[in-house]
Amino acid sequence: MKIEPNGVAGTYLREHVRLGDVLDVSSPRGSFILQSAERPVVLLSAGIGATPVLAMLYALAGAHSTRQVLWLHAARDRQHHPFAAEVRRLMPALAHGRSYVCYSRPGPRDRKGEDFDATGHLSRSVFDEVGIPPEADVYLCGPVRFMADIKQALATMDVAPERIHVEIFNGSESMTPGVVGAATRSPHLPEDDADTGPLVSFARSGIAVHWKPSAYQSILELAEACDVPVRWSCRTGVCHNCESGLVSGAVAYEPQPLEKPADGNVLVCCSQPIRDVVIDL
Ligand code: FES
Repeated sequence: MKIEPNGVAGTYLREHVRLGDVLDVSSPRGSFILQSAERPVVLLSAGIGATPVLAMLYALAGAHSTRQVLWLHAARDRQHHPFAAEVRRLMPALAHGRSYVCYSRPGPRDRKGEDFDATGHLSRSVFDEVGIPPEADVYLCGPVRFMADIKQALATMDVAPERIHVEIFNGSESMTPGVVGAATRSPHLPEDDADTGPLVSFARSGIAVHWKPSAYQSILELAEACDVPVRWSCRTGVCHNCESGLVSGAVAYEPQPLEKPADGNVLVCCSQPIRDVVIDL
């Protein structure tokens, strides 16, 4: 188990949970799931972001998939390279599997060709070298910065944006983007402003924009497209970091939150407006 210096969950598990304890755990949720298709699969991760894509690798290896499967992973060094042995064990089950690992700062005993394939970061030149097929389904998980860099690199390779599936794995940066820290753009209408659909008003930001279901999965995504400051962390209705005041209107939830927000509030990360709404953001 990885313990982050300020991580609440890992620290709690280590200090309080003992063998035989019963944990009340929810079922897995979110939309970061392996799509069934025959297209090539690229599993791209950094650090502990390997976790969800490792589950996909297990599924593909368990089915002895004949799809082309690329496992691309970035770590600092062997000490910080989770699941290395597991991945090595799974790869031979894939007829067209290939693994490529970059260490940004390999240790003196880390062996090139065994522990890792190249020194540096995952980048466009690595993608060219391993030959990412543009028609692949790409599953990307890691810190915010890593994901932004990778998405940019993939965009230059004609990988369609709808084939790039992302899951952010980050303990801290995501909590208050736009609320504290670096200056961001002031709130504005989105580039693809619609003129029909329920009107979503972000009251504090002074922005009112029509909901376009084909463009956004949640009110949070719409708020981000408008640079409306908003807190979030899990983005799937678990943590309540995105809980905001619902001044008026009504929403539907997809996915359903694990626990409802307080009366008069809304979880913007997993809700969609069903009529005009005013939100305290
Ligand atoms: S971001 Fe976690 S519940 Fe919305």
